[in-house]
Amino acid sequence: MPKPTLQEYQEAMQRPDLCFIDGDLKKGKPVPGVFGLPKVISGGFAGVFQIKKGNKSYAARCFLRDVRDIEKRYKAIHDFLKRRRMPYFVKFEYIDQGILVKGKKHPILKMEWVNGQTLGEYVEKNRRSSQAMEDAAQNFKELVNELKKRGVAHCDLHDQNIMVVDGELRIIDYDAMFVPGLEGFPSSEVGHTNYQHPERRLEDFGPHIDNFSEWVIYISLIALARKPEVWEELNGGDQCLLFRRTDYTDPDHSKAFRAIEDIPDDNLKLLLDTFKDAVYTYNLQDIPSIVDEGKIVRRRRQLVNEVAKIPQISMDGLEVTMPRRDRSWIWANKEVERMSLPKNMRLERLALAFTLLYTLVAGGVYAVYHVPLLELARYASGIPVMALLITASYLGRDVVRKRGQKASRIRQLESEVRSRQERIRREVERVNQIKEDVSQRIRELKERIVALKNQEELELKKRESTHWSRLQQITEAKKEFKVQERNERYALLKEKQRAHIAAQLSAHRINGSRTPGLGLVKSFMLSRMG
Ligand SMILES: Nc1ncnc2c1ncn2[C@@H]1O[C@H](COP(=O)(O)OP(=O)(O)O)[C@@H](O)[C@H]1O
Ligand SMILES: [Mg+2]
Repeated sequence: MPKPTLQEYQEAMQRPDLCFIDGDLKKGKPVPGVFGLPKVISGGFAGVFQIKKGNKSYAARCFLRDVRDIEKRYKAIHDFLKRRRMPYFVKFEYIDQGILVKGKKHPILKMEWVNGQTLGEYVEKNRRSSQAMEDAAQNFKELVNELKKRGVAHCDLHDQNIMVVDGELRIIDYDAMFVPGLEGFPSSEVGHTNYQHPERRLEDFGPHIDNFSEWVIYISLIALARKPEVWEELNGGDQCLLFRRTDYTDPDHSKAFRAIEDIPDDNLKLLLDTFKDAVYTYNLQDIPSIVDEGKIVRRRRQLVNEVAKIPQISMDGLEVTMPRRDRSWIWANKEVERMSLPKNMRLERLALAFTLLYTLVAGGVYAVYHVPLLELARYASGIPVMALLITASYLGRDVVRKRGQKASRIRQLESEVRSRQERIRREVERVNQIKEDVSQRIRELKERIVALKNQEELELKKRESTHWSRLQQITEAKKEFKVQERNERYALLKEKQRAHIAAQLSAHRINGSRTPGLGLVKSFMLSRMG
């Protein structure tokens, strides 16, 4: 049965005593909006009215579209939540024939009214408070933890389906939810595209479905806590927090990913890397949950350290300045400062200068006075000895020895870094190749699906037309048969009738007796005919 429109619900709602069957709603009053008509809020799938009864408020959630097996789903969700205390959910009741609209009864969901703001509104108002954003992120993580513990997934987590009441979070809109007991059902919808993995399909349904949207929300809140200006930078707030569907098609060139990557927070970078991997994943079951953040970050740190094993040296003259805990240098690729030449070598410098002067004087004397070569060699024999002594003294210096060791260590580390970089480059190439292959395979499969669909349609049309002409032939034959049957029956009947009349007449012979109304002559003629 087609569902009423928002306007039709609004009209019906003007007489709650007539349209509702639930006692509370019947006696309540819808909160008015513009022109005094009942105020309605809609996310597209339902129209939600606030009904006030005394100091209590209810939400009457009216469906705008059919949800497959809605009654069964809501029963399973209701039964599951009833047995557990889960403060993040709101009390609700599914009423199958809950509202009368234009003479027809339709289902509604009667809910407790949540007096708060949607997460979207809350973030927009409080985004400049780092503390508020950090708290919201941690509260959200706790909420997710609770869902995970119970094996529940909301399946459409987004900024309009989460509400904030005095800083605490509540979830609403349970149409798409998964609870244990709903295994084997498909999803009733694929959720808000700005919060869902691009590959999510209706067949994907289970406790892992929230994992992707968890990262979308969690990273947005953490990013805002670190740098509130990203909201303006990324035009946040229009059906999203910071990420949109378009960011998931090419994360490496997405504005949102880039803007968040630029925030100088080492931990956030690791989370963003994890999320990026999640976007690239084709299997939704491989996406981790934010509740495993600690484990994920530790593993990633280890990996980063392994890949970029640059020494944290604090030796004389070889300094790497980095604040403790900040590992952004790994990404920023800061250069290791090289040691300058040792300055404190006065003796060696003096000896060197003296030797040079002596060599010059000896050369000059030889040139001017033509001293015999043998004589000159005698005078100059001290020079190589001096040079050897200077070199030995220089090399024997502690600082020079250490520098030599450091230089060789640096050379060794540099070669290690180069070989690791080469390994990374090869790995990246391999991953890119795999990605390319997978994309190619997906493209081929998509094309194949389209071709198969076309073929199927064609086949179906062909069969339909064959069936149709066969049906027509049968109808024609049936018609003919009917006409023939009627004619035969008519002929048979006529024959029987004639025989019957003849039999009847022959049973009543007319002889000499007189029949009233017949003259003598006619009576005589009839009796002659038998
Ligand atoms: N129980 C409730 N209390 C307060 N507001 C609600 C409640 N349920 C829904 N709303 C409001 O109505 C909006 C749409 O409701 P929702 O159930 O999410 O419908 P849709 O399926 O169309 O998204 C929500 O974003 C929220 O602002
Ligand atoms: Mg909603």
